[in-house]
Amino acid sequence: MMKDNRIHELTTLKVIAEKLNEATDVKIMLKDVLCELLKLTDLNTGWVFLIDKQGEYELAAEYNLPAGLSWNKKIVMCEGGCWCINRYYDDRLNKAANIINCKRIEAAIKNNWGETNGITHHATVPLQAGNEKFGLLNIAAPNKKHFTDEELALLESVAFQIGTAINRIQLVEKARKHALIEERNRLAQDLHDSVNQLLFSIMLTARGTKELTIETEVKDMLSYIQELSQEALTEMKGLIWQLRPQGLENGIGSALLNYANVLGLKAELNIEGVCTLPCHLEEELWRIGQEALNNCKKHAETTEVFLSITRKNYTVKMIIEDKGIGFQYDEKNHLPSMGLRGMKERAKKINGNFNLSSSLGSGTIISITIPLQKEV
Ligand SMILES: Nc1ncnc2c1ncn2[C@@H]1O[C@H](COP(=O)(O)OP(=O)(O)O)[C@@H](O)[C@H]1O
Ligand SMILES: [Mg+2]
Repeated sequence: MMKDNRIHELTTLKVIAEKLNEATDVKIMLKDVLCELLKLTDLNTGWVFLIDKQGEYELAAEYNLPAGLSWNKKIVMCEGGCWCINRYYDDRLNKAANIINCKRIEAAIKNNWGETNGITHHATVPLQAGNEKFGLLNIAAPNKKHFTDEELALLESVAFQIGTAINRIQLVEKARKHALIEERNRLAQDLHDSVNQLLFSIMLTARGTKELTIETEVKDMLSYIQELSQEALTEMKGLIWQLRPQGLENGIGSALLNYANVLGLKAELNIEGVCTLPCHLEEELWRIGQEALNNCKKHAETTEVFLSITRKNYTVKMIIEDKGIGFQYDEKNHLPSMGLRGMKERAKKINGNFNLSSSLGSGTIISITIPLQKEV
C-alpha cells in the first residue's frame, strides 16, 4: 500500500513536471497544472491566487469551483481578505497548511450564493522559488476537513515546482524585453548610419550643385531638394530619438537634458543619488519624460523646464516641472488623452506612482515615484 502511494505520488509529480516544462504563459500553465493535479489526486476543487510585490492578489486559475464561490462572476474570490491571504502577507505561510475554515466559503454559505458541494476547508500552499514568493495554491474536496501530512507534502512539492516554473517564465519574459530594447537600439543605430547619412549627402550635394549652375530655375529646384532633405533629416532625427535616446547610456538625466535641447527648451537638471537603473525602468522613465517635455514644448508657452531625478533608499523620483500657462486638470473628469494616459500607463507598468498637478497661470508639475528592488 505504502509503495503504491509512493508510485502514485511520483507519477503525479512527473506528469506535472512535464506540463510545467511545456509552459510559456503563467496563467495557462496554472490552469493546466491545477487540472492535472486534481485529476491525479482524489481532491476535486482548487484555485490559485497570484500575489504581486505590492500585495495585490488575483484569482489566476481555478478548477471546479462550486456555484457558491462562482456566484456573481466569482466576486467572492476576487475581493476582500481571508485567512490564507492574511497569513501569506504576514509571512507566516512558508509551508503547506490546513486552513481551518475559509472565509470565502463561509460568506458563500451565509449569503446563500449557491451550492458549496460540501466544501468547508481547504489546504493552502505558498508558491515559491528560493526566496521569491508568487502566491497561493488552495485545494479542497467535499467533506474534507483535514489534509494528511503526506497530502500536504505532495502539495508542497507541486507548489515548489509551480513556483520554479513561474520564476523561469518571468526570467524568459525579462530577457525578451531586454532583447526588444536591444533590437530597437540596433535599428536606431542602423537608421542613423545609413538613411541619415544618405539624406545628409543629398542635402550637401544639392547645396554644392547649386554653385555649378546659373540657371535660376535649376537653382530653385536644387534649393527645394535641399529643403526637403533637411526636413527629412529633422524627421529622421526625431524618429531615431524615439527609438533610442542618444545619451541614455549616460543615464536618464542627460538623455532628457539632450532631448529638451533638441526641442529648443532650456532645461535645468537636478540629480541626486542616482546610479544606473535597470534598463526597463530607464526606458519607461525616458518615455514618460519625453512626453512631458513634448507637452511643455507644445502647450506650456514657456521654454524653461526643471528636471529632477532623485534616488532615496529604494525609490526613484522623477519630476518635470514648467512654470508655463498650466491647465485645468481633474484626474477623475479629464478625458483620456493619449499623452497623459500613456504616461500614467507607463508609470503603472513599473509599479510607479504618477502624479500631475497643474493650475492655470502657474504651470505644471509631473512626478513619478517608482520602487526599486533591493538588489539594484
Ligand atoms: N505642460 C503643460 N502645460 C500646459 N498644458 C498642458 C501641459 N501638458 C498637458 N497639457 C494640456 O493637457 C492636454 C492633454 O495632453 P496630452 O494627453 O499629452 O495630449 P496632447 O499633447 O496630444 O494634446 C493638452 O492638450 C494640453 O491642453
Ligand atoms: Mg502630449
